[in-house]
Amino acid sequence: MRRTLPLLALALAACQSAGAQNACPETKPAAAKWAMPAPAHLPQAARAILAERMQRHGAAMTDMVWAALFLDYDSAADIAQEIASEPRLARPFSQDASELNALLPESFFALQDELAARAEEVARVAPTKDPAALSATVGRLTDTCMRCHSAYLRDTAAP
Ligand code: HEC
Repeated sequence: MRRTLPLLALALAACQSAGAQNACPETKPAAAKWAMPAPAHLPQAARAILAERMQRHGAAMTDMVWAALFLDYDSAADIAQEIASEPRLARPFSQDASELNALLPESFFALQDELAARAEEVARVAPTKDPAALSATVGRLTDTCMRCHSAYLRDTAAP
């Protein structure tokens, strides 16, 4: 059970900082409050391809946190499956600058693959109805989201 604590703490912190009293978990997250800072090193055209996809991930992850907290294994499996089976951006065929996907570094595609693999892990583990395993796999999924965001907020994207 100890491994479920970090996830719980994360959700409670999110509740409390939303400023709601006695309203968690009914409170909807204040979307505007959680806007991601613009990644300085990502070309505008690449940001445009990503925006819609990321908004979907954001919504799916909010649902995933609540599903996990309330041990709703079926929903967690469904949401994970949805993330895992989302079409991925294809690696560029060449470094031709006219190809939009060539604006993204190789690490983007690697993290994109890792995200799908970790979502599959959640989908596989959820039906076993083991809270510690669900917490651990949802944590690993979140880790991939954060590492990719960290790469774009901090580092210069490869040419
Ligand atoms: C492969 C890299 C990558 C992965 C993995 C990734 N993201 Fe993102 N995400 C980005 C980038 C880059 C942006 C910034 C896009 C932009 O320029 O606005 C972003 C932005 C976002 C935004 C802000 C979108 C907006 O337009 O306001 C949300 C929400 C988000 N991601 C959620 C998630 C969640 C949840 C996960 C994990 C389930 C995830 N992301 C996984 C790369 C990634």
